[in-house]
Amino acid sequence: MIVTIDGPAGSGKSTAARGLSQRLGFEFLDTGAMYRCVALAVVQQNVDPADEQAVASVSQQIQITFSDAKVLLDGEDVSLEIRTPEVTEAASLVAQYPAVREELVHLQRQAAADIDIVSEGRDQGTVVFPDAFCKFFLVADPEERARRRQDELQAQGKDVTCEEILQQIYERDQRDEQRIVAPLKPADDAVEINTSTLTIDEVLDQLEQIVRTRINSVAH
Ligand code: DC
Repeated sequence: MIVTIDGPAGSGKSTAARGLSQRLGFEFLDTGAMYRCVALAVVQQNVDPADEQAVASVSQQIQITFSDAKVLLDGEDVSLEIRTPEVTEAASLVAQYPAVREELVHLQRQAAADIDIVSEGRDQGTVVFPDAFCKFFLVADPEERARRRQDELQAQGKDVTCEEILQQIYERDQRDEQRIVAPLKPADDAVEINTSTLTIDEVLDQLEQIVRTRINSVAH
């Protein structure tokens, strides 16, 4: 059974997807981490992120695996390295390339084959798993998303103004929503939830209730 959670950065989908997978006893797939791994490999290998062919070739050569809550790139734990601003920016660029997406979509479908999983990203309900059992699209006001990101960065000892973060959010949203392949948008049959004023537990309660109600209705 596949549950998809899509939405923009800062909408709370990563925390929600991880929490929902725990509540349901499902596996969890963070597809953004996969794009971030390609971006990190591109940065490490000094490949120009604007060189589509070179980036595609990198994406075909690397090995991305998940172990517990860790992300491994060619066997090495890169869970922290993939979250730097440089890699975040590069990830948004490399995610535009059709050949990169094709490669990662293939890996995502492989990872979800024959298991119960909550898969989180931008195109999980629209492109990767169009027949998913339950689809969610999380949104939040840009100001709230910027505030959450600022909290995250401050926890890492980084001081960035809310205005700077807001600007980056607008730029990334625009790139994610306007790209030709698999743009960020809700699937027609996705349940949309605005998390701006909700606590994580309130979001999880809503998600869990919707999935369980659907499971019960199928069982009867
Ligand atoms: O969710 P995230 O911020 O970790 O995602 C990193 C980048 O990857 C972001 O620019 C959007 C992109 N992405 C994507 O295009 N498709 C996905 N399924 C997941 C992430």
